[in-house]
Order: sequence, then structure tokens, then C-alpha cells
Amino acid sequence: MHLYGTQTINDQGHLTIGGTDSVELAEKYGTPLYVYDIQLFRDRARAFQETFEKAGIGYQVAYASKAFSTIAIYQVAAEEKLSLDVVSAGELYTAVKAGFPVEKIHFHGNNKSVEELQMAFEVGIGCIVVDNFYEIDLLKKLSERLEQPMNILLRVTPGIEAHTHDYITTGQEDSKFGFDLKNGQADRAFEQTFDNDYLNLLGLHCHIGSQIFDTGAFQLASEKLMQKMASWKEQFDYTCPVLNLGGGFGIRYTEEDKPLEPAVYVEQMIETVKQTANASGYPIPEIWIEPGRSLIGDAGTTLYTIGSTKEVPGTRKYAAVDGGMSDNIRPALYGAKYSSVIANNANAGLTEQYTIAGKCCESGDKLIEQADLPVVAAGDILGIFCTGAYGYSMASNYNRIARPAVIFVENGVSQLVVKRETNDDLIKQDLPYSQKAAQE
Ligand SMILES: Cc1ncc(COP(=O)(O)O)c(C=O)c1O
Repeated sequence: MHLYGTQTINDQGHLTIGGTDSVELAEKYGTPLYVYDIQLFRDRARAFQETFEKAGIGYQVAYASKAFSTIAIYQVAAEEKLSLDVVSAGELYTAVKAGFPVEKIHFHGNNKSVEELQMAFEVGIGCIVVDNFYEIDLLKKLSERLEQPMNILLRVTPGIEAHTHDYITTGQEDSKFGFDLKNGQADRAFEQTFDNDYLNLLGLHCHIGSQIFDTGAFQLASEKLMQKMASWKEQFDYTCPVLNLGGGFGIRYTEEDKPLEPAVYVEQMIETVKQTANASGYPIPEIWIEPGRSLIGDAGTTLYTIGSTKEVPGTRKYAAVDGGMSDNIRPALYGAKYSSVIANNANAGLTEQYTIAGKCCESGDKLIEQADLPVVAAGDILGIFCTGAYGYSMASNYNRIARPAVIFVENGVSQLVVKRETNDDLIKQDLPYSQKAAQE
């Protein structure tokens, strides 16, 4: 069995995370429970940063917090000197409440509202990643009205579709995000912004996909963006000091996934940027990256309690847990695969195969199609690995199921960082029906 980060199996055959016994965590906090191995998050952050430090290159590693956004993780990210990528007023608000240094926050999104942009100015964030011409207009008006400068990056689509194990290059990318590099949109966006009095154009941004294992796609993207910036230097004598290459570095969900060490992607990127810069006489820009999943994904394990089991003779065995698509939509949404363990019996032989069913009223609510496990019984604690990214952050109250608690574990200590929702939380926005109002 593959264990992640600080995980071990103790003398009692229990899965431990961050020096704590997962069975005791389940007893103390209840299940389902999101458990985060904070040391793993810190180690990843440091590995990315050390790679840049070693290369002697200016950088920012921005945690793409759509993967998991809470006050506590923003505070750990700040401790680790990370920057932050936010995509909504809600994420920005959470970061501000967490006391995250605002000048290290980057704001993304393909349809930022006027209110969101206004908030970004008010708060004084570090950079807005501009997505489209509508946003350029809004930003020009806003910054002029407020007489307030703002750093911007232009998000471009470089025509590279990166998938887990390979990538393809397309002349034009059909994406809702960004300015197309090939068809002239990026050039127009540059011309509309580079000499603006208030908008300080730092450079280009791209994000070519997620769960990518192939360094080639990142290298190609670096080359294309560097070439574009070099062409603007030649034509307009404007040098962009920053190149942001997004996130998307793959992690190991199951044995089928064979990611490189996260830092390797960065080493290759730096090499390509240096080579391309040297070839065109362009000053080496700062490189910014935005890892989400590769910082927080395998730091998360969800603990569930097994309840009912069912056998469909000759077909499959089901084991149902006390959560499901309401706390992890990824399997139902796009067939994401996970591996698992019986946390209270982690050394037992894996003699059986179960489909792990959630408790939501959807046949498609299955967390794992084929989990290799020992014979399971009601009350066993199932740990599903690698649920740290896009699990809690995509959780819903479907079926009016309360969202689980989140805890951080580190150095043998656990702490509650998001309380489990209660039934009262579920109805707190509801208002009673008024017959009188309906008749007025
Ligand atoms: C612009 C941008 N940056 C970074 C990320 C993080 O990607 P990942 O979690 O795969 O690293 C995403 C994910 O959707 C993204 O859209």
C-alpha cells in the first residue's frame, strides 16, 4: 500500500497521519472527516521554493486556493511564505480574514464582477490576472476613477492541451479563459494595456491543464510565452518582468499515476525559460507558478465509517459509507479514481473488491469503483487517500447532508479548523413561507 507524507501504520494496525491515530481521530471528531497532513503541505511548498532558490531566479509560488480554501490553510500558506491565487470575492475575503499578506494575492477569473474588482483595489492586492477585453475596460475605468495603480498579468491560451500523460498543440484553443495567443487577441490586449497610466503590465500567464505528468507541455508553454514577450520587446521596447506558468502538476491518486517530484517540473521550466531568454537576448523574467493539487491534494485523507454492505451475486459487492458525492464530487463529476485503506485494520490482506458507495440519492454516487480491501464490516473506518484538493472546496449540501469537519494534524497534534455543519446550519438561510406575502 502506498502511504503519503507522514502516514504510517502503527502497532495496532491503524493508519496514522501527522503522528496521530486516525481511528482515534474518527472517534474524537466523528466521520466523515477531512484530515490534512500539514507537514506534507509545508514540504511541498519548500521543495518548490528551494528549486527556484537553487536556480537563483526570481519567483513566486502561489497556492491555487480553489483546491482548498479555509482561513487556517491560508495562515499556514502565509507561514510558508507562499503567494496566493484566489478566484472569487469569497476566497479573497477568507484570505483577508486570515491575515494573508494582500500584496502576495493574485486574483483570477473569467468573469470577475465590478464588485469583486473593486474589492481587489480596496484591499490592495498584488496582481490581477486579466482574462478578457471586458475586464480590461472595467479595470481601466476603475483604476482611473480611484486613481490607483494595479499590477496585471494577461492570461493567454497558448494552444496546448495538456492531459495526464501527453499533450497536443492546437492552433487555437477553445477555452473560456484568456486571450488567444495565435489569433491576435493577446497582441491586442497587450496594446490596450502596456502604456496605461494606472495598469502596470507585469507579463503573461497561462494554465495549460491539470494532473499533468509530462514536463514537455510546460516547456512548450514557456517557450511560446517567452517568444511572445520577446516579440513585444522588439516591437514596442517593452520588457515584461514576470512569466506565470500556472499550476497543474500531477499527483499520485492510484498506482496508475506516476508523477515526477513536483520540483522536477519547475527545474525543466526554469531551464527552458533561461534558454529561450538567452537565445533572444531577453532578460530572464521572474517565474511564478500556481500549484493547487500538488501542494494540498495528497495532504488530505477523508475518513468515513462503513455502514451497510450489499452483494449483487456474480457482479459486485458494495460497501456504503456515511458520506459520498456531497463531500467529494470528483468521482461522480469526472470519473476521478482514488485508493483507500481500512484505517482500523491497515495490515489486513486485501482479499476482496468492493465498490464504495456514498449515501446520496444518486446511483452514480460511488467514491471508488473497485477498492481492494479486506472483508469489511459496519463500523470499520475507511480512509480515502488524496482527497485534499477539490474535495472540501467542491462539497455541497446535496440531500441536505451537513458538510464534514476539517482537521489539521501535525507533530502528533490534531486541531479542528472547520467545524462540522449542524442541521441548524443547513436551514440558517431559509425563511418561512408567508401566505400573506404570497397574496400581496
Ligand atoms: C489558473 C489556474 N491556476 C492554477 C490552478 C491549479 O491547478 P492544480 O490544482 O491542478 O495545480 C488552476 C486549476 O484549475 C487554474 O485554473
